[in-house]
Amino acid sequence: MEPNTWVPEGVDITVPNASRVYDYALGGMHNFTVDRAFWHQVQELFPEAHLVARANRAYLGRAVRWLVEEQGVTQFLDIGSGIPTLGNVHEVAQEVDPRARVVYVDIDPIAVEQSRSLLRDNPNAHAIRGDLRDPDAIVWHDQVISFLDFSRPIAVLMVAVLHFIPDEADPRSLISRIGMALMPGSFLVLSHAGPEVTEEGLQRQETARQLYEKTPTPVVIRDGRQLLDLVDDSFEVLEPGVVAADQWRPDPEETAEIPPQPTALVAVARRR
Ligand SMILES: C[S@@+](CC[C@H](N)C(=O)[O-])C[C@H]1O[C@@H](n2cnc3c(N)ncnc32)[C@H](O)[C@@H]1O
Repeated sequence: MEPNTWVPEGVDITVPNASRVYDYALGGMHNFTVDRAFWHQVQELFPEAHLVARANRAYLGRAVRWLVEEQGVTQFLDIGSGIPTLGNVHEVAQEVDPRARVVYVDIDPIAVEQSRSLLRDNPNAHAIRGDLRDPDAIVWHDQVISFLDFSRPIAVLMVAVLHFIPDEADPRSLISRIGMALMPGSFLVLSHAGPEVTEEGLQRQETARQLYEKTPTPVVIRDGRQLLDLVDDSFEVLEPGVVAADQWRPDPEETAEIPPQPTALVAVARRR
């Protein structure tokens, strides 16, 4: 696809970008040579890296379906939503309940533009630009407060985005700020890059982490305990707790397709 037809002005296409790299990892088309070269470097270290992305994405789909089907949730705020790909939140949710409403939020202008273009004819889904490090600007954004009903439960997704938030930005307090805006019975849907399980794997992971240091979005690896610590006591982490993505309410058919990926840590929590 010709870049100048879909790249918003001011986007730097000379450094790899997390949303475009992830788009490429999932087989998408909104990425550049620099993103593809970056992903190939990651894949040299982790040939199975695309499976981590797929396991994460499959979890997102299962969690959204479960929330609509079993918990009756019809409102979603997807922060760090990425460039639209297969199985976007509104597609999964609206397949179960066509009234389901979704607001997508991303820091990357390409992700926002592409989401807007996909949602042109969908009155029940919007995309806005926002930074998770400024959560109040997200929850008080005109298009969020006018579109989502904060007097009813909302599921806030932070899927594969929290590992781009360094400790200095205090991710626990960012999540708490979002939590304060939510009614009891609202949900958090989380996933996070976790540590490799062997010494040799940890070394490769450290090399990959150093690669990300050269991008605008360095990665922080957190283990299950550290992920739990990001969620304050106003939320209850639901069974099965923090687990690898494929173990969260697995779908037997999917599990057969994607082998277990222990570094894709996930958890779903409910506001008390
Ligand atoms: C790996 S993608 C995940 C996309 C999607 N949530 C998923 O799991 O399939 C991470 C996304 O987070 C976005 N992102 C990174 N830092 C962010 C921030 N501070 N605020 C909002 N979005 C951010 C990136 O632009 C990218 O689109």
